[in-house]
Amino acid sequence: MTNRRSLLGGAAIGGGVLVIGGIAAREFLGGGRSSYISSGSVNPLQIPTLYPGKVEGGVRIFDLNLQRGTSRFLKGVDTPTIGINQPYLGPTLEMYAGDTVRMNVSSELSETATVHWHGFHLPARADGGPHQPIEPGGKWSPSFEVRQRASMFWYHSHALHRSGPQVYQGLAGAIYVRDTESERLDLPNDYGIDDVPLIVQDRAFNRDGSLFYSTSMRNVMMGMTGNTMLVNGTVNPVFEARSNLLRLRLLNGSNARFYRFAFDDGRSFAQVASDGGLLEQPYRTNNVILAPGERTQIVIDLSDGSPVAFLADSIETMGMMGGGGMQNRGMMSGNDRMGDGMGDRREGRGEMMDRGMRTNGEGMMNERQRFTVLNIRPTAQRRKAITMPTRLLSLPRVDPTDAVRTRRFVLNMGMGMSMMRGGGFTINGQSMDMQRIDETVKVNTTEIWQIENASMMAHPFHIHDVQFRVLDRNGRAPGPEERGLKDTVTVAPREVVRVILRFEEYTDPDLPYMYHCHILEHEDAGMMGQFVVV
Ligand code: C2O
Ligand code: CU
Ligand code: CU
Repeated sequence: MTNRRSLLGGAAIGGGVLVIGGIAAREFLGGGRSSYISSGSVNPLQIPTLYPGKVEGGVRIFDLNLQRGTSRFLKGVDTPTIGINQPYLGPTLEMYAGDTVRMNVSSELSETATVHWHGFHLPARADGGPHQPIEPGGKWSPSFEVRQRASMFWYHSHALHRSGPQVYQGLAGAIYVRDTESERLDLPNDYGIDDVPLIVQDRAFNRDGSLFYSTSMRNVMMGMTGNTMLVNGTVNPVFEARSNLLRLRLLNGSNARFYRFAFDDGRSFAQVASDGGLLEQPYRTNNVILAPGERTQIVIDLSDGSPVAFLADSIETMGMMGGGGMQNRGMMSGNDRMGDGMGDRREGRGEMMDRGMRTNGEGMMNERQRFTVLNIRPTAQRRKAITMPTRLLSLPRVDPTDAVRTRRFVLNMGMGMSMMRGGGFTINGQSMDMQRIDETVKVNTTEIWQIENASMMAHPFHIHDVQFRVLDRNGRAPGPEERGLKDTVTVAPREVVRVILRFEEYTDPDLPYMYHCHILEHEDAGMMGQFVVV
């Protein structure tokens, strides 16, 4: 049992100890074929191919094929997966503000899928939600103009009741939107060299190497979690940094886990972006929290030349009380600094992991776990640091008096019988119904959406078509990390979060956009609603 404990603990803990992944895998897979795993294995971080499409007649065209494949996450074991133009995940789509793009999506999958452009302002018919299904063997070719600020967005499955399993198997990818304003800034900008996307996803594996996914009551309630971390589809990744400043674009592409990211030596870094664009100025911090669906960008300084591990602590979201939001975040960040006392705590975590494994992840509580996201090794010769800009851009001011009305959204989870019968996951008392338009908003108006969490766990609330701004949490102004453009916002239990949003152009009285919890199992179970812009 020692083996299993250390290896499982390792897989989750990592933090400078690069051993583990391999052992963990062998143990997890039931041993036996020990030859295929060597301990101490780290893998070069996979960088998704940067795909600028091809420009024809003024249109930037992307060919995207949804396909089944086989991935080798764990040494010597094949895992059936799905991906876009590749076995797992997809290329990073690169586009420019002002572009007209066309997405030629074809599907070789055996089930209905969709591809949603998360964070994009576009016509509802191009959104890729549940109303734009792509049948097996089918095609879908939406076209839209890129009316976004520069940021990292993402694309992923949004199939009705099937987003969870499809994203889990790999139907997701990153999108880089660029614009002249942000390209002018002196930020690290060399894709894969000093500007690196990190798609963070926890996964669980069966003994035969296949992905373990289940919609047990526990997994629907808490969301599907795993104890192996994949970063761009890499287990135990290592990245050789060839520059003194490194920009990491983080996407929490997990189905359900919330993470607090930090470095094992506690170093600070500059947070430069939120979901939908750059912040007005870099914000110095030593940790950043992302809920599923959220993105951020950070710039770290490696000029001391020492290796450093980037870690993610899984955050307990059950009963995370909203006593004023930021307080709450403060409380979560107030734990002892990551990297301190790790040795002492490893034992405890090992036990938790053991328990988690015995029950195949079916324990009722979301256990706090630590994952290594990236081992960063600066090379001897590094590009000199550029000077970080102190101001990035300016954002429109936020003024609640611009809003013509306030809409309330109450998130709830029925327990016990109501949940088992379905219909337990609700917004304003109702579960998702494709035939029901829940809200009708007027084009060219500004509204306040007040999101209230009546359940016992935190939900990341996501709204299609718009980038919004956070007004307040339980009446308090948001912290600096939340003052930028957002499309997904965490609402803790008993918390009331108000966001302000403006609906511009693209009216369609029949085709709705979605708003929903981005814990994919909650979305699939019905915590989703529909609005039209008229
Ligand atoms: Cu990221 Cu409605 O989705
Ligand atoms: Cu979305
Ligand atoms: Cu939820």
